[in-house]
Amino acid sequence: MSQDAPAFADPAGTWNRRFEAPGYLFGTEPNAWLREHAGVWQPGQRVLCVADGEGRNSVWLAERGLQVEAFDIAEAGVAKARRLAAERGVRVDFQVADCDGFAWPEAACDGVALIFIQFADPALRARIFERTVRSLKPGGTLILQGYTPRQLEYRTGGPPVLSHLYTAPMLREAFAALDILELREYEAEIHEGSGHSGRSALIGLVARQH
Ligand SMILES: C[S@@+](CC[C@H](N)C(=O)[O-])C[C@H]1O[C@@H](n2cnc3c(N)ncnc32)[C@H](O)[C@@H]1O
Repeated sequence: MSQDAPAFADPAGTWNRRFEAPGYLFGTEPNAWLREHAGVWQPGQRVLCVADGEGRNSVWLAERGLQVEAFDIAEAGVAKARRLAAERGVRVDFQVADCDGFAWPEAACDGVALIFIQFADPALRARIFERTVRSLKPGGTLILQGYTPRQLEYRTGGPPVLSHLYTAPMLREAFAALDILELREYEAEIHEGSGHSGRSALIGLVARQH
């Protein structure tokens, strides 16, 4: 899924159009990095899914017994996410909101999931990362997945815009306030709907609030 200048200028309109198409653009299974690392959170704990799209991650976390909140700018995505939660018989507190308008919890979350949120330019990214750190309670854990600049060669997902992509030093600096438990740049074949499909240059982070 590539994003271009109009996508950034009108994110709600662009993503609503994408999500109005039949099916689930990123599938209904969770992101693989999230699936591998979600064991850091225990059933009953409070987890926030940022820019959750059509709900594949939030619904899966709720199925694991977590207390999940999720928001996304695209109403059409959130509508599908609500349907997915109903089909799977779980409860997620969904909201339609953009990252700047959302009422982020303060030192209240056991977990935050930032999965493929590379719509954010450096300024917005800095605000999201800062709010993420503040929303984690002591011992709370962040799980993040994104693409590295190498992804510009693969073009199998994510925005083809260098400044939106992540490197390990960038994430280490952005999350210097947290204990980094795992930070890995790697390549893998992923199949997460038609939106993220094929050989991909990925980065994953797991980091804990003091
Ligand atoms: C690549 S999709 C990833 C969705 C989801 N995290 C997943 O992994 O399936 C990016 C998501 O960001 C949402 N988005 C874009 N700009 C946003 C903003 N400013 N605030 C909140 N959500 C936004 C889009 O609607 C879309 O659902």
